[in-house]
Amino acid sequence: MDNSKELAALVCDPLDSYLMEGLASSGIKVSYEPAITHDELGRKVKDYDIIVVRSRTKVTGDIISRAERLKIIARAGIGTDNIDLESAEKRKIGIVTAAGSSTDSVAELNVALAVDLARKIPLLNQRSKKGVWVKDTGTELHGKVAGIIGFGRIGQATAQILRSMGMNIVAYDPVKNDQAVRAVGGKYVTMEELFRNSDVIFVLAAFSGDSGGMMGKSHFGISKHGLLIVNTSRAQFINGPDLLDALRDGQVGGYATDVFWHEPPEAEWEKEIASMDSVIVTPHIGAQTAEAQKRVARYTLQNLLDRIQVMKL
Ligand code: MLT
Repeated sequence: MDNSKELAALVCDPLDSYLMEGLASSGIKVSYEPAITHDELGRKVKDYDIIVVRSRTKVTGDIISRAERLKIIARAGIGTDNIDLESAEKRKIGIVTAAGSSTDSVAELNVALAVDLARKIPLLNQRSKKGVWVKDTGTELHGKVAGIIGFGRIGQATAQILRSMGMNIVAYDPVKNDQAVRAVGGKYVTMEELFRNSDVIFVLAAFSGDSGGMMGKSHFGISKHGLLIVNTSRAQFINGPDLLDALRDGQVGGYATDVFWHEPPEAEWEKEIASMDSVIVTPHIGAQTAEAQKRVARYTLQNLLDRIQVMKL
């Protein structure tokens, strides 16, 4: 990295200072603009060799077309759905992520949301605080079937906890890891089998535009009545209006989500989903733990410095 002093990096979203300090001490000129708007980024991006984003900043084709010097986009997180990968590829811009940095944080949130849904904890908490001291019967997770869509790091870590709680695991993933699925006493099934047999479905797959709306009416129609769904990946996997219908008639008995089609909700159907008693909404906090914040900064820095070396920048 002999010439790294000449490199300039723009960090566009809030990140732990460890990242900025690490970049600076590697001789990279760092600008930290955690609230930069899309328009500002469009004006400034031409001055940078590296940009670092989380999920707030969208690196569109338009941004990339203005980024004359850009060599690397670092995604401080896992999903790359906020980056126009095709445009980046055409320009031979390297992409790095911080895969693995939030595995335990998201896995713990998945399990918490499943228990919240099964025992209606947020609803009963709200009522109790208002003085409505009324019991409501929930369900146990023990002995039930957890259907995990996306059996990567987060899916596997979630399955391990669920297995220790006595759940039976089935998984759907086009990429198979037989050893990992056997380790939790589970098996791979088709998407249809997963919807037919699961009591709780966890949407944990990596999202790409092609997967938009892939779960909808035809899936809810074959599922067990009262199916619970936890989604900490991307809302866009699910057809929202179809989900609303299924929640209204109880076919889907509960939906706990850390991700929304728009964050915060914009369309009327989104607002209705968010307002329902059978729905739990959190504001995309999967990776927002003290530990994961540090890890995401550490992994991003390391992967970025490695890539700078590989690209001989
Ligand atoms: C991710 O893809 O890394 C998560 O959604 C969390 C985030 O974007 O910060």
